[in-house]
Amino acid sequence: MAHVLVVDARSATRDLVARLLADAGHSVVEAEEGHGALEVARSERPDVVIMGILTPRMDGPDLVRRLRADPAVQRTRVVFFTPTYMADHVRDLCDACGIAVSAADLASPAAKGTPVRRVDRHLRLLSHRLLEKDRALEEARRSRSRLLADLVQAEEAERTRIAWGVHDDSIQVMSAAALRLDALAGVARSEQGEAIGEVADKVRQAVVRLRALTFDLTPPSTAGAGLGPAIESYMREVGADAGFRSSVEDRLNARPPAEVEAVLYPIAREAIRNARKHARAHTVTVTLREHDGGTLLRIEDDGVGFVVEHRPGHLGQRSMRERAAAAGGSLQLQTAPGAGCGIEVWVPHSVPSPALPSSGGSLTIRGDDLSL
Ligand SMILES: Nc1ncnc2c1ncn2[C@@H]1O[C@H](COP(=O)(O)OP(=O)(O)OP(=O)(O)O)[C@@H](O)[C@H]1O
Ligand SMILES: [Mg+2]
Repeated sequence: MAHVLVVDARSATRDLVARLLADAGHSVVEAEEGHGALEVARSERPDVVIMGILTPRMDGPDLVRRLRADPAVQRTRVVFFTPTYMADHVRDLCDACGIAVSAADLASPAAKGTPVRRVDRHLRLLSHRLLEKDRALEEARRSRSRLLADLVQAEEAERTRIAWGVHDDSIQVMSAAALRLDALAGVARSEQGEAIGEVADKVRQAVVRLRALTFDLTPPSTAGAGLGPAIESYMREVGADAGFRSSVEDRLNARPPAEVEAVLYPIAREAIRNARKHARAHTVTVTLREHDGGTLLRIEDDGVGFVVEHRPGHLGQRSMRERAAAAGGSLQLQTAPGAGCGIEVWVPHSVPSPALPSSGGSLTIRGDDLSL
């Protein structure tokens, strides 16, 4: 395979030639005009230069003259192309610098159309391949969305199972124990009765905590009214005993896709939970709005803030980041001691396709030869 230098003033033309060459397995370097081409030829030593004949400043024949004068690159082969040539003019130019011109290429009307037809064929092939690639990317995007939805569902199912287990088993047993202790306290001697009553209170406190835990574990109730109302109800529940004022500003015009809600809700929940556990905040604010083809969730508290550092065994921050990343989104955290905490999460409504490679890159369009 050859190392080819493509020279033309128009980037679209360079792109096309470079893509076709790369597809045929050649390696390609590019330059806009003769001076640049000369430098690239000296550093890259291409096997062949393919060049628009009338580039500005230093045209094709001039470049060939300079190449032939430099022993290091004088044997470089040069192929000119031009879509709008005047045969006599080109022949004169080439004669002047000792370049042989294929008479057939210049004279034959049939030959005249050949490059155009070839370019046309390659363009059709290119767009066909791009369409195929586009379809494959769309399918990949859909299956990624499905996977994400399955993942979220599996996780929620597991949480529900644990929540029901705690509710049906541990809470019931402990409630019964508290009742039994109350009964015992009633028949015991007074000082023992007091101690038993205290134990009963502790058991009841544990029951309250377990109930809060089952509330945390139950899956998001976004299915009904949507993300904003679900977060609002969670805030009410959590804020009541945390002692902060809370507000949810839902600026969404429409509901995001279910899988986006399913990703954002647990993130909001963890951020609110963190505000309750660590922030000692007066106010916690949640904002939801559309942004850049996705949903933007912001949770802000005016609490104590913190230094961001890895804390083994503390999983909340990591889980928020990983959820956002798995959905093709991102998470920004702004905090410092004494400065409160702001978390901004953006999740796209459709998972972005990987960018198409640029010309001369790894886009593979097979199945045709290149011969301009
Ligand atoms: N809103 C906040 N205000 C102040 N400190 C916070 C806030 N959010 C997190 N932190 C600090 O960052 C640490 C890490 O938070 P993270 O959510 O990862 O873990 P955790 O809440 O301690 O435990 P887990 O989430 O695993 O139950 C917390 O322990 C706390 O020190
Ligand atoms: Mg946490």
